[in-house]
Amino acid sequence: MSGAITPANERLSRPLDSIDIPHKKISKICCIGAGYVGGPTCAVIAYRSPDVTVTIVDLNQARIDAWNSDNLPIYEPGLEEVVKAVRGKNLFFTTDVDTSIREADLVFVSVNTPTKKSGVGAGYAADLGWVESATRHIAKVSTSDKIVVEKSTVPCRTAVSMRKILDSNGKPGCKFDILSNPEFLAEGTAIKDLLAPDRVLIGSLDTPAGRSAAASLADVYANWVPRERVITMNLWSSELSKLAANALLAQRISSINALSAICEATGADVDEVSYAVGLDSRIGPKFLKASVGFGGSCFQKDILNLVYLSESLHLPDVAEYWRQVVEMNESQKRRFTQRVISSLFNTLTGKRLAVLGFAFKKDTGDTRESAAITLIKYFRQEQAKIALYDPKVEASQIWYDLAEPGVVDDATAVKKQVTLCESAYEAAKGADAIIICTEWDEFKDTHLDYQKLYDVMNKPAFVFDGRLILNQKKLEKIGFKVECIGRSRLEETFE
Ligand code: NAD
Ligand code: UGA
Repeated sequence: MSGAITPANERLSRPLDSIDIPHKKISKICCIGAGYVGGPTCAVIAYRSPDVTVTIVDLNQARIDAWNSDNLPIYEPGLEEVVKAVRGKNLFFTTDVDTSIREADLVFVSVNTPTKKSGVGAGYAADLGWVESATRHIAKVSTSDKIVVEKSTVPCRTAVSMRKILDSNGKPGCKFDILSNPEFLAEGTAIKDLLAPDRVLIGSLDTPAGRSAAASLADVYANWVPRERVITMNLWSSELSKLAANALLAQRISSINALSAICEATGADVDEVSYAVGLDSRIGPKFLKASVGFGGSCFQKDILNLVYLSESLHLPDVAEYWRQVVEMNESQKRRFTQRVISSLFNTLTGKRLAVLGFAFKKDTGDTRESAAITLIKYFRQEQAKIALYDPKVEASQIWYDLAEPGVVDDATAVKKQVTLCESAYEAAKGADAIIICTEWDEFKDTHLDYQKLYDVMNKPAFVFDGRLILNQKKLEKIGFKVECIGRSRLEETFE
């Protein structure tokens, strides 16, 4: 019957205000994991909830020391201001995990869930070792009831395992309620995303205890998030929604990158195509920027996780569909490399390539799965010399990523081929080509003096714009040969 309210959509449409169930007020929160998610997320909770004491714990002493210092362990615009405003008041960082768990009403599990490196599901499944050990820790030290919240991105039905661990290891009389509350922040805009989220998702069992726990957590977010943006649903939908959101975002990038290959072969311009399709309100403009490929700690990992889940559920076609999103991303990096090689007269041997950008996107120092790592590996295989500049990434991180410890070769070999530079100008000196790998604003032609770069380069001087941030015509006027993702040099004629 039209307009009938099924239990599911009734739940979805019910504002949390109207959940008329008694629920506990949260006054102490413990967050296990002081990483890219735990740190910023719980700092913002403390910042917006003066009545709540938030303690972020980690086993990594150096990381905790950095959170307690003037030199925070991660770079995120706005993070320092937030941390400094509340640290020592209602926000604390410590390695004293036991006390913090014991005192908390609610515990976020915000630990790493990387792709498994060996054993069953290697290369696809999430390694849940850290989630399990954090959960065991909660069970072991808790002396009172806790709401345990999955903040980490986890495979669908992980809460079942957490439930079993908590039930079989908790002290008699301690009651644990499990919620899923996935995080949707993007690095580089984390604070903005956390202060004004599109939505906050809380998954719970549809039982009085589950709903009561969800209402308690919703109250915390209600300190700054409009109620209608806090949505509740069943636990498994919530867990799967996180993987689904990342998979759909990554799929858009792979789709536009697949189209960029067609553009390069036909004379169409991928920026124009993406603008044209993005104006369709059903499609929308976001996540349609062609690039050298998506990076970051999560897109690839979460899609592979979805592939593994699909295979485990005997859904090979579904698995293959999502696998192709990752495969297209790899293909984009290979295609870009091939374009660099063929433009530079089919050899990179001994040529100096000024690589601008190493972070996986602008405004972060994070390099996890950055396209630049793979591209530099390919350039090295072609015997090129690389002069690398990134405004934020630490040198030690770059050497670590390029040496691929235990996988490919040693740091000494890398250092023979790669030089780290202090500026784009230094990198360009004597280079045959500039390669834009990260879209840092300071690499745009409105910030950098490309004439100055051109003057110190070998001729012909090439620019490969892997992020579509440059004004091609302006650079061509200077004398550069410009090659852009998703754009060919075919003339706009009917010939
Ligand atoms: P991270 O590696 O930066 O941080 C995880 C931290 O947890 C580490 O500092 C580690 O030492 C600590 N840890 C692990 N086990 C512990 C334990 N038992 N006790 C105390 N500390 C422990 O990881 P991250 O980027 O913050 O990601 C965390 C989770 O959030 C992952 O599941 C990830 O998929 C998800 N996520 C990440 C992002 C992102 O932008 N990075 C965004 C949304 C979701
Ligand atoms: C992504 C999601 O956007 C977040 O919602 C999610 O919480 C997070 O993953 C996670 O689960 O870890 P993040 O990886 O930090 O956030 O950054 P994005 O802005 O999504 O960019 C990911 C990659 O895609 C970057 O390499 C970026 O340069 C690339 N990208 C992005 C494109 O190539 N084109 C685009 O149009 C957008």
